[in-house]
Amino acid sequence: MHIDPQTLSPGRRYFLMISAIVPRPIAWVGTNNEAGGHNLAPFSFFNAFSATPPVVGLGFSPTESKPGKDTLLNIRRTGELTISICDLQHGDQLHESSAELPYGEDEFAATKLTPAFGSVVSAPFVKEAPVSMECRLRQVIEFEESGGAMILADVLMFHIRDTLIDARGAIDPHRLKPLARMGGGRYASLGEIFKLPSYGQLPD
Ligand SMILES: Cc1cc2nc3c(=O)[nH]c(=O)nc-3n(C[C@H](O)[C@H](O)[C@H](O)COP(=O)(O)O)c2cc1C
Repeated sequence: MHIDPQTLSPGRRYFLMISAIVPRPIAWVGTNNEAGGHNLAPFSFFNAFSATPPVVGLGFSPTESKPGKDTLLNIRRTGELTISICDLQHGDQLHESSAELPYGEDEFAATKLTPAFGSVVSAPFVKEAPVSMECRLRQVIEFEESGGAMILADVLMFHIRDTLIDARGAIDPHRLKPLARMGGGRYASLGEIFKLPSYGQLPD
């Protein structure tokens, strides 16, 4: 089968993208809203794009009910965000934090999560998360066709739970237990983890 994405409706195109590109990591993004309150929402159009400098990217897709995501609005205004990685234990709260609450309503309070604060940006991160990053906006790329956008952000500080670090000083994926996003509202945990022979050396 061959599919030209231009021939699909926006809904079908979205479904194809999120079903084909799996599993996706999920950025649990904390920002400050205009009145100084907190905002939290998950985004799975997310990945790392550079290690030097450490840069991550996020994609924002407008929906009919919410053309401008509060998160993007806050990032544009403050230039700051945090990204937490969610473990399997907090999947329900992550999903709940995607509810389209009116601007200014705090998803930390709504989902009974604890806002924590780092040393570089004033945006909150999820205290219960095993890994969090403090980030600063680097670039916004607009998608004129839809009104959507993607951002690139520099990671300025990592916060990592001590018990995740293995004897080599790396994050042990078995202890991290990250939640991943599939298509059609499905989530996934890590399956089998295996090494190819030429990989696995930790650099100096
Ligand atoms: C697991 C998950 C991943 C999501 N990924 C994205 C995404 O990558 N881009 C996007 O625009 N919305 C995504 N959403 C929807 C947003 O989380 C949702 O629209 C949320 O209400 C946005 O919150 P905000 O308006 O406070 O920013 C995702 C939802 C879930 C549950």
